[in-house]
Amino acid sequence: MKSAIGCAAVISGWVHRIRRQGKKMIFLILRDGSGFVQVGVFGELAKQFAEPQSLCVETFVKIEGTVKADQRAPYNGIEVEALKLDVIGASSTDFECRVQVDAGNQIALDLRHLFIRGENTAAILKLRAFILKTLRAYYDENGFFEITPPSIVCNSCEGGSTLFRLNYFGEEAFLTQSSQLYLESAVPALGKVFCIHPSFRAEKSKTKRHLAEYTHIEMEAHSMTLENLIEHLRQLFHYLFTKIEENSDMCEYIKKLNPGYRGLFYDDFMVLPYYQAVELCNELSLQFQDDADTPPRAYAYGDDLTDKIERRICEHLGRPVFITQFPSAMKAFYMDPRSTERGMETNSSDLLFPGVGEVVGGSMRNSNYELLVEKAKEEGGGLDWYLDLRKYGPGQTGGYGIGLERILLYILGGDPSDYSVKDCCLYPRYMGRVSP
Ligand code: 4AD
Repeated sequence: MKSAIGCAAVISGWVHRIRRQGKKMIFLILRDGSGFVQVGVFGELAKQFAEPQSLCVETFVKIEGTVKADQRAPYNGIEVEALKLDVIGASSTDFECRVQVDAGNQIALDLRHLFIRGENTAAILKLRAFILKTLRAYYDENGFFEITPPSIVCNSCEGGSTLFRLNYFGEEAFLTQSSQLYLESAVPALGKVFCIHPSFRAEKSKTKRHLAEYTHIEMEAHSMTLENLIEHLRQLFHYLFTKIEENSDMCEYIKKLNPGYRGLFYDDFMVLPYYQAVELCNELSLQFQDDADTPPRAYAYGDDLTDKIERRICEHLGRPVFITQFPSAMKAFYMDPRSTERGMETNSSDLLFPGVGEVVGGSMRNSNYELLVEKAKEEGGGLDWYLDLRKYGPGQTGGYGIGLERILLYILGGDPSDYSVKDCCLYPRYMGRVSP
């Protein structure tokens, strides 16, 4: 806009803030979604809008004027002096009473359709769009095809306890928990594939990191090993955080939202097998508790690493960590098992981010037809089509799923911050909330 100084301009936008000085001077901050600019309305033109209801916060206006440099003006020392002002969409004057900065969480969520106009919320949504654009570019540059799988499905992928059930024309169907199985089916046709698609989890927990509907970034490819899956993810996050660092708008948003932000780059990531994570828990005197009725005790091989424990491990290490080789009994039916001196372990990895916990869940896929037939029965059926994939040339497929909102939560500061995944999507869905 600096290059426009001295030029005539026509701009449209919403009145974000308004300041009146006497009857002949009105200063507006105009918002059009791409940014903010100060507009000065003076003299006779200002007098026409002396009544508060004629020009107030959230009025949509069209301004014709001249661009001027004014060091006192916020947003880059630029002011548009209005020569003509047309009200295109009037606003009710009670916006600021309804949308208050210090409103409680519930009010802010009830009125999310209005709160998203705020600077911080809009900045988070722009960061979200930037991450999506960057990841799509990464996949494109690396030869992946995007697919668009269904949301209404006939089988569970991540276990029955978080499955949303539907009456689908009289038949039982579900909302997808993960598009992984569909991605697997597309690999023999397209080679390397990804999708960015909603996943649904009937999570009863109302934590900072759980949603009932979230944006799931999933990838699947053939001829994979766990090592090259981990290498791919290191490169992907390095690419993402580098692109963020190279974008001055994103850096400015992040500086305001989380001054303590630190990007995560290739060398930051470390790998820790599950059994060593258990040893670390004991070194750190972290205790395992099965449920509220049993007393806490030392960690043993086979114990679940809860969300809280994963975050403590990550906090102790001070960097993102891939936890690999979980015992098979703890993980999903589709994961590739391998025999070790400790028993059957999965060829899998969860990636934990400091202050957030698990951001990625990935694995090599089980290609043993007989074993999968047994496991598919335990999953409650609907998987015959998936078993076919193992009958006709299983190609050592492997892949992962990333929770988009959890990447954003990391950028916003994770645990020590007031933010949660609910702040990281347009309209959060979680137990107890289905509106607006
Ligand atoms: O670890 P999960 O359950 O893995 C899968 O769904 C695999 N089928 C993915 C694959 O291999 N294609 O979920 C993957 C990620 C988690 O690491 C987390 O980031 C996110 O999805 N996630 C959630 N995010 C928000 N709310 C929830 N309820 C989430 N559940 C999982």
